[in-house]
Amino acid sequence: MSNVQVTFLPNNVSIEVARGETVLRAAMAAGVHINASCGGDGTCGKCRVMVEAGSVEGETSDRISAEDREKGYRLACKTTVQGDVTIRIPVESAVDISALQRQAPRRTATVKQIGLEEIKEQGLFLPAVEKRYLELTPPDTQDHLPDVTRLVNHLRLQHDEHGLEVSLPVIRQIPSVFREQDFKVTVTLARPVRSSGKTQIIRVEPGDTTDRNYAVAMDIGTTTIYGQLVDLVSGKVVAENGDFNGQVSYGEDVITRIMFAEKPGGLETLQRVVIETVNKVLTRILKQSKIAREEISLITLAGNTTMTQLLLKVEPRHIRRAPYVPTASIYPTIRATDLGIALDDHVTALVYPQVSSYVGGDIVAGVMGSGMYRSEALTLFMDIGTNAEVVIGNKDWMACAACSAGPAFEGGGIQFGMRAAKGAIEDFSIDPETLEPMLMTIGNVRPKGICGSGLIIIVATLFEMGVIDNQGKFDRDLNTPRIRATDNIYEYVLAFADQTQIDRDITINEIDIENLIRAKGAIYSGCTTLLKEVGMQLDDVEQILLAGGFGSYVDLERAMIIGLLPEVAPEKVVYVGNSSLLGARMSALTNSVRQQVVGVTNMMTNFELSETPSYMDNYVASLFLPHTDMDRFPRLK
Ligand code: FES
Repeated sequence: MSNVQVTFLPNNVSIEVARGETVLRAAMAAGVHINASCGGDGTCGKCRVMVEAGSVEGETSDRISAEDREKGYRLACKTTVQGDVTIRIPVESAVDISALQRQAPRRTATVKQIGLEEIKEQGLFLPAVEKRYLELTPPDTQDHLPDVTRLVNHLRLQHDEHGLEVSLPVIRQIPSVFREQDFKVTVTLARPVRSSGKTQIIRVEPGDTTDRNYAVAMDIGTTTIYGQLVDLVSGKVVAENGDFNGQVSYGEDVITRIMFAEKPGGLETLQRVVIETVNKVLTRILKQSKIAREEISLITLAGNTTMTQLLLKVEPRHIRRAPYVPTASIYPTIRATDLGIALDDHVTALVYPQVSSYVGGDIVAGVMGSGMYRSEALTLFMDIGTNAEVVIGNKDWMACAACSAGPAFEGGGIQFGMRAAKGAIEDFSIDPETLEPMLMTIGNVRPKGICGSGLIIIVATLFEMGVIDNQGKFDRDLNTPRIRATDNIYEYVLAFADQTQIDRDITINEIDIENLIRAKGAIYSGCTTLLKEVGMQLDDVEQILLAGGFGSYVDLERAMIIGLLPEVAPEKVVYVGNSSLLGARMSALTNSVRQQVVGVTNMMTNFELSETPSYMDNYVASLFLPHTDMDRFPRLK
């Protein structure tokens, strides 16, 4: 889609946006405030603007009279830009000209997924499972070689394949398959995990099927399970799908799941339901792609330590008990059918290794999938989801830790917190004079709650505008009906009941802000503690890789304003998406990832923050906006 230029008057601020974007979103991106209370639903009528020049489209609204529409008035939330346009913010929408003062434009992290081209360029496209088409010489009266010897010899002499192993189930198939098309066969080779290991022949088929070879990559998340079907010939993702992890009904987080697993039959139940979800996602991606189940040669799985143990039906009770040890770090190659995964007998399941009880295979997958394990640059990897894990290092060393941040960034512990779904407030600005809000919701509908990225923007903006102080307390002297005390707790009304979907005022109060400060403090102090332990500082960090659910939407400036992210140039921050899924996919596409993952896992030194002496001091110092030590945030000083 082509870009167009939107210019906002009277401050003459311009921004390029995609054709078809709403005027309201363009204004938010440009840092131009327009009052907007209903999240872009078109019902509050507060976002009136005047189109002075250019082409726009939009429905009529009973909030704008025919006469005003004739004059060029429109609702910013219901008007899309179709060409270069000039928009005037009328005084009645902005309340006061001073309110048009520009706020910093939104700046999100550069999104980077390691592309197939990059893998190919670096010579890493070597799938873990490959097919070879062979035209074997049939036996005759002069040639009595056994079928298997004939196969192995041919692969050695014609394809330079050595150290092969053939399993008994494959040997059982060979006599008939070889003779079906006169000894013209395709063999599937599974590469060894260790470079010293043997290549396994896991399947024989009649004829040439080398153009059809697929793998499934899965992220086994505590809340959701995502799967991708990967074409191992082209390297492309041909289908993807996800669903809630069926275990959600047995507990929201890993601790409640572990407690359930300790009950009689609990572990078996949790393993069964997670496999049911895996099979459901698998069936959907097969249906989407119209690929037959037997064409899958491999499944790769990554999850946190608890999810991995539950998936493998390994008792997880010691994960939550001091001294917090997982049962295993590295798991052997497993037959998918042995776990109950509905794939053919020859399919192996590769499970990412774990570092510790709370730095699991999802984080190792992120380190591998993002390419951090190959990077010279000192990198800070942060996965912020239901909890937060951080890894610092480069190709030579790595230190990691889990930060007990809690689920604030996914809506937990926040009165009107919710996941990033339709109706969640995801963006916010405030009129510095009247303190009236500009709210934007996912789906442009009336608000229902606040998602993680919205929460960061709201708290940062209230702090920037002096509405709250560095301890997250509201300025009691501000004169606006939006700030009030309910049950002695101060709050700001983001949306009054008549403009919400829940018929209640949506507010953010001092307890919510305190929870957010604790969560961001845990993450920031986790990073500073790790660096201190290895004799480094945040200034030494050359790049930040952000992973996890909300990373791509996080406004970086605001995340730095609240002290969630260290103050670095925004160009240094890269969003890598669902890094667990990325790592699972990479280990199917490049066997070298699989071969190196054990070494990388062993290199990752885990720090238990609660037992690291400097952690508590760092944590307490982080319980301010942005921090007690403002030298760490020079731009905010
Ligand atoms: Fe546009 Fe409410 S009418 S934001």
